[in-house]
Amino acid sequence: MSATLDADLAPLHTLALRARAERLAVLADLAELPDLLAQAGPQLRVLGGGSNLVPAERVAGTVLKVELKGRQLLGEDEGAWYVAAAAGENWHDFVQWTLAQGWPGLENLSLIPGTVGAAPIQNIGAYGVELKDCFHALTARRLDDGSVCVFTAEQCAFGYRDSVFKRVEAGRWLITDVLFRLPKAWRPKLDYGDLRARLDGAEITPQAVADAVIAIRRSKLPDPAVTPNAGSFFHNPVVPAEQAAALKARHPALPLYPQADGSAKLAAGWLIEQAGWKGRRLGPVGMYAQQALVLVNHGGAGAADVAALMQAVRADVLERFGVMLQPEPVWW
Ligand code: EPU
Repeated sequence: MSATLDADLAPLHTLALRARAERLAVLADLAELPDLLAQAGPQLRVLGGGSNLVPAERVAGTVLKVELKGRQLLGEDEGAWYVAAAAGENWHDFVQWTLAQGWPGLENLSLIPGTVGAAPIQNIGAYGVELKDCFHALTARRLDDGSVCVFTAEQCAFGYRDSVFKRVEAGRWLITDVLFRLPKAWRPKLDYGDLRARLDGAEITPQAVADAVIAIRRSKLPDPAVTPNAGSFFHNPVVPAEQAAALKARHPALPLYPQADGSAKLAAGWLIEQAGWKGRRLGPVGMYAQQALVLVNHGGAGAADVAALMQAVRADVLERFGVMLQPEPVWW
């Protein structure tokens, strides 16, 4: 197996920052993993589609690009289909394939960039559905000794854009396969934003929901192939009920999403827009003109440019609203 030294990471992540890896190895066959781990040394980072990543200009150690492929129906019972996919499968292609097979459930998650293996790490979500809603289990290898472990949903400890793989287990595992449970009793989920309105008049099928989600995303979110970005750059902040009420009293237009525990999720995009950052640039980076929550690279940026803009946006939102935004991507 060969590795590339001083590899260009710009084409391997969607923010297209100036970034190089000391060593890049590609994993297309699990049988090669033991050799690869033996050669990699202690600093090993796993790369999927690179759609939620801010790499430094020089990334030390080995970057392991996962290109494991394969997807299949593993079984079914009265209630559900059980569908497995390898970590290197493209997420959107996988979703479209499940729909074409007649196994709905993932349609609201159409067009999210990235790979199947990265999807559980931040429990990807959109339009009222999160990965955890259709998740059954995943298989992973420990990076230190290559041993195999199966994680149930409970063990993954999924939260809003969060899992155990972003916390205590961060950097320790290579996810190889994800198993989904897609219930046979399909119920469309249309309550988020203008999704129902988009479908107005059309027959509501899983593919029609997918098409509506795709249309909404295309109208709001920049295509990374044209305008490099990492999707939402900040989490929508969750604040205690009292703080939410006080903010709402002062800013009646603030979008608020009450949570089950009484707290409230605020729309970070709105806060950033009100703080004056929508469409505004700092050096080669800026907040996107159609969706202020998305940080875009206008060309030639490195991680330091991203960090500078992040700090400026956070400082202004904190000063204006008393809310500290937290970045969504992983930093290397
Ligand atoms: N808003 C503004 N100005 C903006 C952007 C948004 O006022 O510049 C307002 C909107 O008008 C709306 C609210 O904020 O009232 C929410 O906006 P939107 O529906 O566009 O969703 P979001 O909260 O900004 C979240 C996810 C997206 C996901 C959409 C749809 C996070 C951090 N982001 O964005 O996920 O696609 O909802 O479900 O939770 C991602 O994580 O990378 C991502 C794109």
